[in-house]
Amino acid sequence: MNNKIKIHKMNECDINQAADIWQNCYNKYSSTNNFFPSYWKTNTSEIKDFLEQKVKDGAAFAAEADGILIGYLAFDAFNFNGEESVFCPSIGHAVIDDYADKVYLLLYQAAAKDWVSKNIFNHMWTINYNDTRLKNTLYDLGFGSYLVDAFARTDAKLDAVSSYEIRKAASNDADILCSLVEESREYYASSPLFLKRDPYLIDDISKILTNGNVFIAYNNNIPVGFINLSVSHENNCIDLSVKNCGMIDEIGAYIKPEHRGNNLGKDLLKNVFNYCTSNNIELIHVDFETANLFANKFWKKYFSPVLLSVRRTINKNIND
Ligand SMILES: CC(C)(COP(=O)(O)OP(=O)(O)OC[C@H]1O[C@@H](n2cnc3c(N)ncnc32)[C@H](O)[C@@H]1OP(=O)(O)O)[C@@H](O)C(=O)NCCC(=O)NCCS
Repeated sequence: MNNKIKIHKMNECDINQAADIWQNCYNKYSSTNNFFPSYWKTNTSEIKDFLEQKVKDGAAFAAEADGILIGYLAFDAFNFNGEESVFCPSIGHAVIDDYADKVYLLLYQAAAKDWVSKNIFNHMWTINYNDTRLKNTLYDLGFGSYLVDAFARTDAKLDAVSSYEIRKAASNDADILCSLVEESREYYASSPLFLKRDPYLIDDISKILTNGNVFIAYNNNIPVGFINLSVSHENNCIDLSVKNCGMIDEIGAYIKPEHRGNNLGKDLLKNVFNYCTSNNIELIHVDFETANLFANKFWKKYFSPVLLSVRRTINKNIND
């Protein structure tokens, strides 16, 4: 069958068919997990726009058999944590089920040849969290877990009780929040996570306080942790969040080490859920690195993973 499959750069005339293949896959995965936002089941305009741009950039490969499109792979190229990288988002690939493994391997082979010839050695790929077949194929190629995108429904009951006082932050809490955020940077940079985050200036923190909803926890009037929720104003086909979705993003959530494991994280999250239900926000999105040992346990208790991003690093001396 491999002989019949041809890989070529994707053309404009492939886009409608590619979006159909993607949507069939999305409907299949979302039929067993109702945390997938329903918007993407019936809307493909953002996906077509994305593919159109990728075709123009020459950043999309197509697979065809007997003249029919059976799969595609489209990607972004950018600098990620100091390294030239490529990233294939969940809308950047799909294949017809009958051909899945073979076509994915052929598409990756063609794309990886192109990337490595340009000295791009960091390859990232987002798949449906429950697509164990593709996950196994990618793991055999040397990919490993990096990031999870997960959603929660805000009508879920959280029976959190903690001994902490939680207050919604006001604009004059910028100094308090700034010092907690600065402390969180040390946590993200530590082993085994090793995530470098840029410092936040006080003005950045003031903007977060204005645009987001920050809840700060106090122990005997001493600030010990926070959570931040913003609300999305548009659909985002990269992380699949939709308009009016709660987003635990930017500064996220952080609790000082000595106060972890006392139900405070859950209590902060309860405040976020309550805010959402009072403001007609039905869905919340969060993403977290799987090497973040706390986050990888905590969020999975209350959120359902929908996407998994995996990463492969190629031997750096291959083009020497
Ligand atoms: C992630 C974090 C906010 C969780 O807050 P927390 O107060 O420690 O968590 P809680 O005590 O409320 O725990 C809630 C539940 O998660 C579970 N949980 C939390 N951390 C866990 C861990 N490291 N391992 C296993 N389970 C864990 C608890 O067992 C509890 O479950 P239960 O109610 O069934 O007993 C906090 O640990 C933290 O700030 N970590 C460092 C920063 C960070 O990772 N932030 C998230 C960035 S995306």
